[in-house]
Amino acid sequence: MQSMYTQLLSVNAATINRAASLLASGEVVAFPTETVYGLGADALSDAAIQKIFIAKGRPSDNPLIAHIADLDMLPLLAKSVDSRTQKIIDAFWPGPLTIILKKTDRVPDSLCAGLSTVAVRMPSHPTAVVLIRALGRPIAAPSANRSGRPSPTTAQHVLDDMSGRIPLIVDGGPCAVGVESTVVDMTADTPVILRPGGVTEEALMQYLPDIQVDEAVLHPLKKGAMVRSPGMKHRHYAPDADVIVVSGLQAAVIAKCCALYDDAIAQGKTPVILSLHHLMTLHGERSVQSLGMDAQDMAAHLYDALRTLDKAGYDFIIAQAVRADGMGLAVMNRLLRAADFMCVEA
Ligand code: TXA
Ligand code: MG
Repeated sequence: MQSMYTQLLSVNAATINRAASLLASGEVVAFPTETVYGLGADALSDAAIQKIFIAKGRPSDNPLIAHIADLDMLPLLAKSVDSRTQKIIDAFWPGPLTIILKKTDRVPDSLCAGLSTVAVRMPSHPTAVVLIRALGRPIAAPSANRSGRPSPTTAQHVLDDMSGRIPLIVDGGPCAVGVESTVVDMTADTPVILRPGGVTEEALMQYLPDIQVDEAVLHPLKKGAMVRSPGMKHRHYAPDADVIVVSGLQAAVIAKCCALYDDAIAQGKTPVILSLHHLMTLHGERSVQSLGMDAQDMAAHLYDALRTLDKAGYDFIIAQAVRADGMGLAVMNRLLRAADFMCVEA
């Protein structure tokens, strides 16, 4: 693709106007949300959506999320909302929850990759809300990383991936949640979490007691299995370094991480241990990076940690598993995908 100059502007009224007019003319603009930065385009314009796929290098069979600012934008996109869905809308919107619904004819095929369903989310980040209202239409936005890379949680991350590929990045500071929204499919009899994220399974269960978590969240897809979310087919969230996840009891995990580290050194690699914060000091003189104090903190810093370790020149990341509940489910899902499901039990 042809290279262009990428502007990075702090958020203010003039920046929002500039971003909205670029979007209105069919261009792609990166903007902050409470989860990760998004790569936005007019969700009702097929031509604008094509530009997102090109800028990201994203496979065209992976559908996008349409972001709305107000509930009156929903009927444009979704056919109807049943009472179960209304409950989670009332409880979690605006916020990090994406809902899969039956689509209307207004939705361009490129947005939902030819599926009969559409992913909709109402973000809570003030910049995202103001930008959608300024455009006056829903904004289609995947995470603003190059396809396959860790998602961006700062404007600098976006610039690292998108410089020369998009005209504007709106800088609204670091994203608070740090992992993407939870994706829930409400089109089947039983609601299913296709991707864990900023809203936990436990929180959703209060409103949807029968909710299930898709197999593919913590396990590699079986060969030939049907994929409910096309995003689950592709390698994701991956730094340049190789990643391995180590699970098990605490003492065994520390010993295994140290052994893997020492083997890697012997092979001439540059390893680092991505450690639970309270275990950091238990790895001797080895290079250690904190994964965070608790699951929420880990979610907020995981992608930045993966990008930072790449930049520091590490080529092998030995990551300690976290408990897959609460926000830990989203953290484990991202770690396992970054590792391409390379996981050892200590
Ligand atoms: O937090 C987020 O959700 C961020 C911010 C920017 O809002 N966006 C984001 O978009 O993570 P993206 O494109 O990186 O991830 C969208 C996920 C993909 O896994 C995709 O396969 C799934 O949602 N998805 C989209 N439409 C779908 C549909 N109709 N059916 C099933 N899965 C769908
Ligand atoms: Mg993404």
